[in-house]
Amino acid sequence: MRVVDIIAKKRDGEALSREEIHDFIQAYTRGDIPDYQAAAWLMTVYLKGMTRQEIVDLTLAMAQSGDVLDLSDILEYAVDKHSSGGVGDKTSLVVLPLVAACGVTVAKMSGRGLGYSGGTLDKLESIAGYNVNLTGEQFRALAKKNGIVLAGQSASLAPADAKLYALRDVTATVPSLPLIASSIMSKKIAAGANGIVLDVKYGRGAFMPTVEDARALAQIMVEIGTDAGRDVVALLSNMNQPLGVAVGNALEIREAIQVMSGVTPDAASDFEDHCLIVASYMLLLAGRGQRWTDVDANQTLLRDKLNNGDALGVFRRMVDAQDGDIRMVDDPSLLPTARLIVPVAAARGGYIADVDALAVARASFDLGAGREKKGDPIDVAVGVEVFAKVGAFIEAGMTIAMVHANDELRLAAAQATLQATFTYSDLPVTPPALIDSVISSV
Ligand code: URA
Repeated sequence: MRVVDIIAKKRDGEALSREEIHDFIQAYTRGDIPDYQAAAWLMTVYLKGMTRQEIVDLTLAMAQSGDVLDLSDILEYAVDKHSSGGVGDKTSLVVLPLVAACGVTVAKMSGRGLGYSGGTLDKLESIAGYNVNLTGEQFRALAKKNGIVLAGQSASLAPADAKLYALRDVTATVPSLPLIASSIMSKKIAAGANGIVLDVKYGRGAFMPTVEDARALAQIMVEIGTDAGRDVVALLSNMNQPLGVAVGNALEIREAIQVMSGVTPDAASDFEDHCLIVASYMLLLAGRGQRWTDVDANQTLLRDKLNNGDALGVFRRMVDAQDGDIRMVDDPSLLPTARLIVPVAAARGGYIADVDALAVARASFDLGAGREKKGDPIDVAVGVEVFAKVGAFIEAGMTIAMVHANDELRLAAAQATLQATFTYSDLPVTPPALIDSVISSV
């Protein structure tokens, strides 16, 4: 079938066959379909949507457009996690060592940050020497030897998604549920996952503004996983206020180490709880109905792994194996530090009713912690710490945030942004639930 006929078929609201989707994706990946035709096709998908079968076919076609990682000689069942991205979301840094500390091998490929959302790779690179660029063989060898590896996604994995995502970015076709769901799931499937925990965030600091949007996306991803023979659990998690205290690359590494040292400050207890929940579902999947079937009991076990130093030991082993400077793990004050560290004082007293995650992300971004476009340099030392979370009682003048800056002008702008970030109430405020609901295929 000619490409123009595939575009026309979708334009007219018809469902594409598996062969049409497969051929289209393979031809586009090879460079046989020009961007203008692919852009037209993306817009028809954006406007007309896709059936469940089409979304599964698109996901598998993109997953098979490059290498598919086969970890079956190392582990019988590979468990992975994915977050749709949030403010202060450093969950992978704690969750992977935690799960590995329970004897489950984790081999994860992560991404860099773009826009307001930070990337795990950028955070890890705050640790001097940490190598995220592993060859396929190195990646497998570390998974086998250490039971944990956390590196950058190989360019040969789901190349169709990388190409299509870049095109979506400039054709206003990013916010399409079939395209987002297939994009995320194709990378997880290509990375060899058998079981996937999806942390689908909703709220101001998230890709999906409302819980209904997040639920619709989560539902589609669980369906894709089910039809593709994977086990999937999707957690709908609140991202209206930042997760934990730290927002900014080295600051987030510091906080992750603090949590793994068993000394989580009160204001970051939401982050610790969130990590325990995500990790407990990863154990549930890894146990495959034989072990770890009770997520509450899993959390108790995992909390012990934080408090007894096991998770931190695994993190240290991972950093060492990937050429990172373990002195920075042992003494986080050695991590890159900003020149100007200035408190923000509460303008008034009362209960914190709201902390606008997006405003916090913008402040951190403006300080230089994020990148506008791929390849832009970032400053790993800068960022924001938010000490006052929803529900806390604050007296006027108390330190509610800290700005870490390397530039006086940017510091002043961040201070002003942060002042407007907090909303106060004279009446007590109940902190929001971390997880709205869970959608599971198991
Ligand atoms: N993250 C992805 O990986 N793909 C999308 O389309 C959106 C968010």
